[in-house]
Amino acid sequence: MLARYMAAHFFFVYNHLCKRKSYSTYGSLVSKRQTAAVQSKAVKKGVGYNMALLEVRNVKKVYTAKLGAVKVQALSDVNFSVEEGEYVAIMGESGSGKTTLLNILASLDKATSGQVLLRGKDLSEIRHRDICAFRREHLGFVFQDFNLLDTLTLKDNIYLPLVLAGVDHREMERRLQPLAAKLSIAEILEKYPYEVSGGQRQRAAVCRALITEPDIILADEPTGALDSRAAGKLLGLFGEVNREGQTILMVTHSVQAASHAGRVLFIKDGCVFHQIYKGGQSNEAMYRMISDALTVLQTEAAAGNTADADLQTTVQTIERRAV
Ligand SMILES: Nc1ncnc2c1ncn2[C@@H]1O[C@H](COP(=O)(O)OP(=O)(O)O)[C@@H](O)[C@H]1O
Ligand SMILES: [Mg+2]
Repeated sequence: MLARYMAAHFFFVYNHLCKRKSYSTYGSLVSKRQTAAVQSKAVKKGVGYNMALLEVRNVKKVYTAKLGAVKVQALSDVNFSVEEGEYVAIMGESGSGKTTLLNILASLDKATSGQVLLRGKDLSEIRHRDICAFRREHLGFVFQDFNLLDTLTLKDNIYLPLVLAGVDHREMERRLQPLAAKLSIAEILEKYPYEVSGGQRQRAAVCRALITEPDIILADEPTGALDSRAAGKLLGLFGEVNREGQTILMVTHSVQAASHAGRVLFIKDGCVFHQIYKGGQSNEAMYRMISDALTVLQTEAAAGNTADADLQTTVQTIERRAV
């Protein structure tokens, strides 16, 4: 009975969200403390409070094979917005379009149609030669495989985006000290990536992302290569910087990781079909809500939706990967 009720609710929301052009009016349920931090950051940057930081409107992505015969529709109609100061997780089975979406948001790839606006600026209107600078100035990236350069020390890896942006050395040091202390890497800054643990490499990567003071951190499976202790530490850190006002958008397979976010978007068949807000609830309550949503997916797959034949395995995989 409960499962049937949840399934009905689930697919009502699915249909509703897929039909909507945009659901930015859903707003975000950030805490008062967070709102204050966000507002002071917004004032610092001279922007209004009510404009969404990131708007994704009717984004579609079709990949065309070289000969042009085979087309893959990776994203069909993605709509969502992220308010300043939010911590949003995106979940979805393998092949559902998560990396494609993140690449478009990162301006590493272009949508076939639709718009991505960052502070109201349409990414597709940025001139090709300005894209690298735009990315460096506004976006921070954290990847599953860290992407640190092995020939540079952690410190030089962290400084790299600032060096490219021509930032003064004293300013680089001024920014690094408090961040390195918070991330517990102050003692290992002179080491090379291969000399430190996976968790330490990932924290250095987070430091590199934060040091540019980006508008938004884009993270693709940031805990994917970490053991559960290191993953827990990283998630604690993400929570902390978010409470200080940093906006985070994280793609993850892990229910545990997603339960740290304030909102989880579920993507399927190239469309955002469900979302869950944490509101004032605990990570544990959020964990249960996400698991319940995945169970409904599983129920639907078991009920014979043949298009979702491998969904059950996927959901089990998602559960197993939970750190
Ligand atoms: N460069 C590409 N060329 C053609 N098809 C692609 C390319 N990248 C991804 N796809 C296809 O697009 C769909 C979504 O892929 P992806 O965004 O990587 O999903 P996810 O990250 O959720 O696993 C898949 O069917 C995948 O095979
Ligand atoms: Mg992917």
